[in-house]
Amino acid sequence: RRLERILSLDDFERAARRHLPRPLFGYVASVAEEGETARAGREAFNEVHWLPRALVNVSSISTEVELLGQRFSQPFGIAPMGISALTAYRGDMVLAEQAQRAEIPMIVSASSLIPMEELAEATGADWFQAYLPGTLEGIDALLERVIQAGYKRLVITVDYPVPPNPENHRRSGFSSPLKPSARLAWDGLTRPRWLTGTFLRTLLRHGVPHFENNAATRGVPVLAKHAARDFAGRRHLDWSTLEHVRSRFPGQLVVKGILHPDDARRACEAGADGLIVSNHGGRQLDATVAPMTMLPEVVKAVEGKVPVMIDGGFRRGGQVLKALALGADFVFVGRPFNYAASVAGGAGVAHAIRLMSEEIERNMALLGVTAIDQLGPHLLRRREGGTA
Ligand code: FNR
Repeated sequence: RRLERILSLDDFERAARRHLPRPLFGYVASVAEEGETARAGREAFNEVHWLPRALVNVSSISTEVELLGQRFSQPFGIAPMGISALTAYRGDMVLAEQAQRAEIPMIVSASSLIPMEELAEATGADWFQAYLPGTLEGIDALLERVIQAGYKRLVITVDYPVPPNPENHRRSGFSSPLKPSARLAWDGLTRPRWLTGTFLRTLLRHGVPHFENNAATRGVPVLAKHAARDFAGRRHLDWSTLEHVRSRFPGQLVVKGILHPDDARRACEAGADGLIVSNHGGRQLDATVAPMTMLPEVVKAVEGKVPVMIDGGFRRGGQVLKALALGADFVFVGRPFNYAASVAGGAGVAHAIRLMSEEIERNMALLGVTAIDQLGPHLLRRREGGTA
């Protein structure tokens, strides 16, 4: 019944704001400093407008795509998000299950609270995102674990040499780990559905959750007085580190967090099998150029050698289609799925996937397109009036 009023992906955000304690909603919604990266990201979708075609027979439409040798029912998937098991009961498990059911990919986060082995075994999840440890021995040990757990695709996030400015987290009362406080307790007590349905249920059935999949923070409880170990030990990571990972990981290697076309080329040279054009959802460097703005240049630089994926602010099927028309092969979506899991568990995530899928199918019909590979810049006009 709660879902009847959720008509678009953004409606989940409004519902989650009411449902989650302020520090946790703040964690998911958070953007760095002034939020200019996120604003620019939203505006970038309107740098191009559609030029639809009329009277095309659209009685049969396929939204299927092939990516990295696998077929998916939709051109979008679920981006990696840390500590999802604190905003939704067994959050990562719920996301992975619904993704598997809908035949779309879900990337397991390095900062998740459920061990990667458990997620892979229960759901068949086979995309893992890593924050690389600071030493080669640490990296090798992590890779061994990822391989043993059966992950076929490793996503290395490269826009995280240091943690972001914690200012906005501090304002909302969030820290990692979460420090028990009177304010946090009050916030929980005034959100009884989250308190009983997510928090107490987790504590009773599984104990205090720990970071499980990040070599730097593994074993740190998510609720503790002391600060997590810091990331100072990874500042020196560079392209040679990526080459090392490439030489040790037999599966497909995806580099997440690319914006510059030269970095895209460099990642291909280092042996990446795919790229995700991303600015981490506006959570890292403030006032960063939008992934959508850089997409055409990155696509050109890559010359079709590897698939180009993208994420950041996608909330509408039409926005997903615009990225595909500009040359992206796939789109990842983050926050809305996290909110959906928080508000209504598996049913919420299924609803979010359905809403996005329906918008994609409907917009393809309105554009006069019956398959994803028919999308292209010929269906777009730059706002100034020139050809995209
Ligand atoms: C993230 N993101 C992220 N990325 C990553 O590589 N590893 C991670 O552990 C996390 N954790 C994380 C937590 C939360 C709560 C959010 C919202 C985001 C970034 C994420 O993968 C993705 O790049 C952006 O979220 C995409 O933007 P939208 O769709 O959320 O606007």
